[in-house]
Amino acid sequence: MEFRAASEQEMEAFGARLARGLAPGLVIHLGGPLGAGKTTLVRGLLRSLGWAGAVKSPTYALVETYALDDILLHHFDLYRLSDPEELEFMGLRDFLDGHAICLIEWAERGHGILPEPDLRIGIRPLGTGRDLRCDPGTPAGARLLAAVIETLAADRDGRGAG
Ligand SMILES: Nc1ncnc2c1ncn2[C@@H]1O[C@H](COP(=O)(O)OP(=O)(O)OP(=O)(O)O)[C@@H](O)[C@H]1O
Ligand SMILES: [Mg+2]
Repeated sequence: MEFRAASEQEMEAFGARLARGLAPGLVIHLGGPLGAGKTTLVRGLLRSLGWAGAVKSPTYALVETYALDDILLHHFDLYRLSDPEELEFMGLRDFLDGHAICLIEWAERGHGILPEPDLRIGIRPLGTGRDLRCDPGTPAGARLLAAVIETLAADRDGRGAG
């Protein structure tokens, strides 16, 4: 499934749509080149869940954890991971505990150690905006994608009616 985010604001709004369909334990990979808008999407998602603090790129720490009211969310940026095995030393199993949500940038750096995600989101800069491609890997990921599509349809209908 493909989407278009024409601006930073639309990318944050897409993150907010994802937030509305989150289920415990979902693992989402965010792909795309440097500066694609991966962290922007995560920021929109966190803000819509009520996170009022900063959302910074966890590039140096590799992971930033957000404790929300009833959701624990881990935001990984594995750009600086030199070896997938480092993930074992980080205690990857404890992060992927089946309850916390995991959003992972540069997941390809953890190839062989990271499990397959529920949803893959590939972001491609095109013109001044971005194309997003979503590929579910599990039934839970397919449900999340269906929920996103539903929010888009509902908003369109709402606008049409009003
Ligand atoms: N849909 C969009 N259209 C136009 N600009 C965007 C869009 N989404 C994000 N941007 C801009 O792209 C820039 C980079 O965004 P961001 O830091 O989220 O990228 P990233 O994919 O996380 O990069 P990195 O791989 O370095 O972590 C920001 O200036 C942001 O405003
Ligand atoms: Mg980033």
